[in-house]
Amino acid sequence: MENTVLGFIGAGNMATAIINGIVSTETMRPSQIAVFDINEEKCAYFKQIGVQVASSASELANACSIIILAVKPQNFEEVLTGIKEQVTAETLMVSIAAGISTDYIRTTLGCNCPVIRTMPNTPLLLSQGATAMCRSEGVTDEMFETVEEFFSSCGTVSELDESQMNAVISVNGSSPAYFYLFAKAMLDNAEKQGIEKEVALPMIAQTLIGSAGMLVYSGKTPDELIEMVSSPGGTTLEALNVFYQHDLEKIVDEAMLACTKRAEELGK
Ligand SMILES: NC(=O)c1ccc[n+]([C@@H]2O[C@H](COP(=O)([O-])OP(=O)(O)OC[C@H]3O[C@@H](n4cnc5c(N)ncnc54)[C@H](OP(=O)(O)O)[C@@H]3O)[C@@H](O)[C@H]2O)c1
Repeated sequence: MENTVLGFIGAGNMATAIINGIVSTETMRPSQIAVFDINEEKCAYFKQIGVQVASSASELANACSIIILAVKPQNFEEVLTGIKEQVTAETLMVSIAAGISTDYIRTTLGCNCPVIRTMPNTPLLLSQGATAMCRSEGVTDEMFETVEEFFSSCGTVSELDESQMNAVISVNGSSPAYFYLFAKAMLDNAEKQGIEKEVALPMIAQTLIGSAGMLVYSGKTPDELIEMVSSPGGTTLEALNVFYQHDLEKIVDEAMLACTKRAEELGK
């Protein structure tokens, strides 16, 4: 493997989304990127687009100065143990896994290499991700900006302190599922009221996109935006009152705390 800079261990959904972002924005050439996955079939696409395919994790680790760990949290130990000999104090390690700390990575590698821990989300697959990032000691601004550029190629990036990385999973990592659940409940009700799902789904999805746009671009707070839709004595207030009666905000609070608790358990 020649002139490779960036290596991915694990070539699944998230790695594919990140590589597609990096290549389509010309942040890097495909030939500067390498992947390794125990499942060879996952690598066929990468071969096709000119990304180098390593025959082992250690071959990849030997060739790359930046390694993105894109396997499930339960595979971290075997992956880190397998590349221990190749990783040096100059190798920049990047993790996208839930609950795995920068300390765990350094300790398992037995090396004080710089580590960037990220929490992306699945809208990354459409280059609309929201990624949280934090750094261990030893990560220079230049290293951080390089990795920030990779994730910016497929969405927005926010820097957090590592102490916030478990909690942020409830904010960006798991939260797409909250909105899907809300959409599903609305879809079921639309059908109950005689509006076919095929008609309702695009309207619900566009309403989510439009409402997200209002949150980002209108300069108004969520409370002000709610007020804009709520005429006195009108229909929206009737709907909102049902949410208030069932204390939707408390349900959301409990759900997000349960999410963070699980992230903490997974990291132990
Ligand atoms: N999906 C999300 O919403 C989301 C959001 C944020 C962060 N993440 C994190 O992103 C990471 C990757 O998620 P994903 O959805 O891309 O998973 P994925 O599609 O399952 O990809 C992981 C790939 O790694 C392979 N693999 C397993 N053990 C390996 C090993 N020892 N060496 C090399 N490759 C190995 C897997 O092969 P097999 O399938 O054969 O096991 C699979 O192809 C996870 O840590 C997850 O927590 C996911």
